[in-house]
Amino acid sequence: MRTRLAALASLSAAALMFAIACGGKKPPVAPEPPVTETLSDAGDGDSVDAAPRALFERLGGKDGIAQVVDAFIKNVQADSRVSRPFAKVKGEHMKRFHDMLVDQLCELTGGPCTYQGKDMKSAHKGMRVTNKQFDAVVEDLQAAMSELKVPDQEQTELVNQLSQMREDIVGDKRK
Ligand code: HEM
Repeated sequence: MRTRLAALASLSAAALMFAIACGGKKPPVAPEPPVTETLSDAGDGDSVDAAPRALFERLGGKDGIAQVVDAFIKNVQADSRVSRPFAKVKGEHMKRFHDMLVDQLCELTGGPCTYQGKDMKSAHKGMRVTNKQFDAVVEDLQAAMSELKVPDQEQTELVNQLSQMREDIVGDKRK
């Protein structure tokens, strides 16, 4: 009995000491659980404020576009489906075509260029361009981008932009 009383007394003393040591304060409140993102908030882990890069930049800027156009022109000249209309485009004329196309693609993809060539209807007037030729030119451009390892996503974005010109470029809509 004496031992029990002694044990109780020392427990109460320990409790008293603890209360004094803690200054009688309440135990700390557990930290709030982390805020859970909803699916609609969830990003891909990249900085939330980062603006998406323009297609122009993802294509390697004006230099990258110029390389694509160089490869594209070689492909077109070697492509029997479309080489004929391009056969007359040589020398200075070819240089102008090259530079016009670079400026056009630069502006179209969000780059700091101003295309100053003809509108697509006037540029292809009287050529009787067919849908098949239009498709062939787009294929030659895609092949040029693949040669230069332009990723599929960027290829698709550029081709989608160019397909909006089909209406103005194709003069013979039956083929
Ligand atoms: C998305 C498709 C095409 C684009 C973006 C495009 C773009 C252009 C541009 C920017 C020019 C230069 C215009 C100027 O000199 O002011 C041009 C000229 C020309 N294009 Fe296209 N073109 C396309 C499709 C085609 C197709 C399908 C053909 C024929 C098969 C073609 C044949 C030509 C030719 C021969 C010229 C030179 C015309 C000349 O200077 O007399 N193009 N094109």
